[in-house]
Amino acid sequence: MSEFPESFVWGSATAAYQIEGAANEGGRGPSIWDTFSHTPGRTLNGDTGDVAADHYHRWESDLSHIASLGLDAYRFSIAWPRVQPGGSGAFNPVGVDFYSRLVDGLLARGVRPVATMYHWDLPQELEDAGGWAVRDTALRFRDYAAGIVEALGDRVHTWTTFNEPWCSAYLGYASGVHAPGRTEPAAALAAVHHLNLAHGLAGRVVRELAPASQLSVTLNLHVIRPASSSAADLDAVRRIDALANRAFLGPMLDGAYPADLLADTAPVTDWSFVHDGDEKLIAVPLDVLGVNYYSSTLVRAWDGVSPRSSADGHGQSSASPWVAADTVEFLPQPGPYTAMGWNIDPPAFTELLLRLHREYPNQPLMITENGAAFDDVVGPDGTIADDRRIDYLRRHIGAVAEARAQGADVRGYFVWSLMDNFEWGYGYDRRFGIIRVDYDTQVRTWKQSAHWYQRLATTGHLE
Ligand code: FCB
Repeated sequence: MSEFPESFVWGSATAAYQIEGAANEGGRGPSIWDTFSHTPGRTLNGDTGDVAADHYHRWESDLSHIASLGLDAYRFSIAWPRVQPGGSGAFNPVGVDFYSRLVDGLLARGVRPVATMYHWDLPQELEDAGGWAVRDTALRFRDYAAGIVEALGDRVHTWTTFNEPWCSAYLGYASGVHAPGRTEPAAALAAVHHLNLAHGLAGRVVRELAPASQLSVTLNLHVIRPASSSAADLDAVRRIDALANRAFLGPMLDGAYPADLLADTAPVTDWSFVHDGDEKLIAVPLDVLGVNYYSSTLVRAWDGVSPRSSADGHGQSSASPWVAADTVEFLPQPGPYTAMGWNIDPPAFTELLLRLHREYPNQPLMITENGAAFDDVVGPDGTIADDRRIDYLRRHIGAVAEARAQGADVRGYFVWSLMDNFEWGYGYDRRFGIIRVDYDTQVRTWKQSAHWYQRLATTGHLE
C-alpha cells in the first residue's frame, strides 16, 4: 500500500506516571497525579498509578520488547518528582540513575532515546504554591531541565520539553478532569502562558547543555470542522483554533500570541502575566515539532439560549475546558468510535499535517502519538486478535503516508502505546497498548497489532 524510506523513524511511546508505578520508592515525591488519583471520584474505579505496569522494576524486560519489535526509537517521560522531589533544590540520585540506566539500556539496544521532560506529573509542592497558574513554576521547570539535561546530556537523542500543554492547562485548570482538578478559567490561560514560557526556558537549556541533541515539543493539535460554511460557524472554528492550536503554535513558532486569542479571552484575563520578552523567549527554534493525533472536532456557532450539546470530546465533567468559548457548540461526531468514544477520522490527520506543512514549511514534523483503545479479548489460546486496532493504525499511518506524498516533512511515527497503562481519568479500563499487560501478574503479551507493527517497523512497508 505505501513504502516508507529507511530513514523514517518507527517508535512507540509511554509516559512515566502511566507505566512506572513504584510511586513511593527510590525517593520519589508526590505529584499532582498521585493526589488527584487518590481523591475519591476523580478516576474511574478509583484507579491510581501506584503500581501501574510496574515498569520501574521491569524496565529491562520492557526494553527487550522494544528491541524485539525492531523499533528505531522509544519515547518515554521523566517524572519530575522522581528526580527532583518537591520540584526545587537537590536532585535525587536514585531517580536520576533510573533514567540514566534506561537511556543507556536503549542505546545498548540501538534504540534512540526520546525523552519528554513533562508528561503531566507536577510535583505536588509546586501545585501547592500555585501550580502552572504562577510564573515561578516555569522558573522551577528551567532548573529541573538543567539538572536532567546535565545528567543525561546528548545521550538523549531528542529532548521534548512538554507533552500536550493543552491538556495540562485546560483539562487541569478549566474543566478539572485532569490533575490538579481546578476549574478556574483565568488560571487556565495563565497556565497556557507559563507552560509556553517553561518550554522556551527549557528549550534554551537543551541548546546550551546538550547541543548535539534534537529539541522538540509535543502538541495535541486539533482539527476543527465547521457544521456548515456559514460565517458564524467558521468563526466558531476560528475561536477554538485560537484556544487549542494557535495559543501554542503562535508563541512557539511565530514568537507572538495571536491577536484574536487575546481579544476573545479579554473577558477572562488581560494576559498581564505575559511579560516583555516572553514571547520571543518561547520561540526557541525546534528541530522537530511533535504531533499527537487521535480524532477530530466538530463545532457550530451557539446562540447562547438553545440547549447546548456537551460533546466536546473530553467529556467526563460538566465543566468545559473551552475557556471563553461561550458562543461555540461542540457537536457529536459521526462514528465509528474507539473505546474512548473518540471518532475515527484518518483524513483529518492528513489535513492537519498538510496545514502544518503549509503554515510552517520549514518545520520538520514527528508523529509522537497516535493509536486507539479497544476492548481487547484474550482468546482461549492466549492470543489477542485486535483487528480494530490494526485497522485504526493502518489507516492513520496511511494518512501520514498521504501527507508525506503531498509534501509534508514527517520524519517518524510513535505508536501510543508500547503497552497497556494507566489512562488518566479512565484508569486501567482503557487499553491503548500493542502489548497487553495483565495487571494481576504483570505479564506482557504481544497483541496481533504488535506483530503487525513489528513487520511495518522492520520493512517500512505498510500492508
Ligand atoms: C494523550 C496523552 C497520553 C495518552 C493518550 C491516549 O492525550 O498524551 O498520555 O493518555 O492521550
